[in-house]
Amino acid sequence: MAVSNNGRSLSTDSSNKVDETVKVEEAETVNVPPPPTEKLLVLGGNGFVGSHVCKEAVDRGLTVASLSRSGRSSIQDSWANHVIWHQGNLLSPGSWEDALIGVTSVISCVGGFGSNSYMYKINGTSNINAIRAASEKGVKRFVYISAADFGVANYLLQGYYEGKRAAEAELLIKFPYGGVILRPGFIYGTRRVGSMKLPLGVIGSPLEMILQHAKPLSQVPLVGPLFIPPVSVTSVAKVALRGATDPVFPPGIIDVYGIQRYSQKKF
Ligand SMILES: NC(=O)c1ccc[n+]([C@@H]2O[C@H](COP(=O)([O-])OP(=O)(O)OC[C@H]3O[C@@H](n4cnc5c(N)ncnc54)[C@H](OP(=O)(O)O)[C@@H]3O)[C@@H](O)[C@H]2O)c1
Repeated sequence: MAVSNNGRSLSTDSSNKVDETVKVEEAETVNVPPPPTEKLLVLGGNGFVGSHVCKEAVDRGLTVASLSRSGRSSIQDSWANHVIWHQGNLLSPGSWEDALIGVTSVISCVGGFGSNSYMYKINGTSNINAIRAASEKGVKRFVYISAADFGVANYLLQGYYEGKRAAEAELLIKFPYGGVILRPGFIYGTRRVGSMKLPLGVIGSPLEMILQHAKPLSQVPLVGPLFIPPVSVTSVAKVALRGATDPVFPPGIIDVYGIQRYSQKKF
């Protein structure tokens, strides 16, 4: 019997002898494409959370760009020199979309407080604009830093929470497979105000230790949300980065406990 497979010919006769003749074909030249270039755009990279996200991403060797209205970092650290800073306003279409060129993933840290209508615009409309533009430009993954429900506070800060939930809804529609929503409560860490550093961890860190074991209390109606543990800004930054760059990170909403859990996993 003679079998020919890929140039290798074998023949057997009654004595089961194998013809060892092996034809070596000339190797084909295969063009292996270079690995795709990942580029991260951090919206609000000049803010408290955004600056920690930028630093973490630069430390991991990613190509990082940032967009904000001021278009620059107020931080003098060396990592800030490795970020491509763009100036633009998410509420002014046409002023910022060039920042999306070549971008593969986006993390939005844009949000804020003020009057109800301002809070809806900055937390909702500006992020909805960003999500739509990113989806049109073919961005693969989009992480939105939202916020945990705070019961009574939801009524007091109606524009803030309605804006957050509207942006979340848009993200789930436009990025069903690559959209990640983080819902932290209070975020602690070092916040810069001008040249001053505010060490918010002094309160946040011990509170996190106590409250992470009080999950059932957080479900008590009305007062429950007061027991949601704070999380560190480095945990939020790490999980946001993972959500933006890990293709198998699950899409959808990650609550405070999820942020704590994922931040402890090696990445
Ligand atoms: N801090 C917390 O404890 C906490 C807790 C839960 C959730 N969050 C959420 O986490 C996110 C980040 O919070 P944060 O404390 O880091 O806020 P932040 O320090 O005030 O930073 C907000 C950033 O957004 C930029 N920005 C504002 N409006 C913009 C616009 N129209 N177009 C482009 N950029 C704009 C600002 O930069 P410029 O001023 O230079 O434009 C700034 O870099 C927010 O969505 C917030 O709601 C925060």
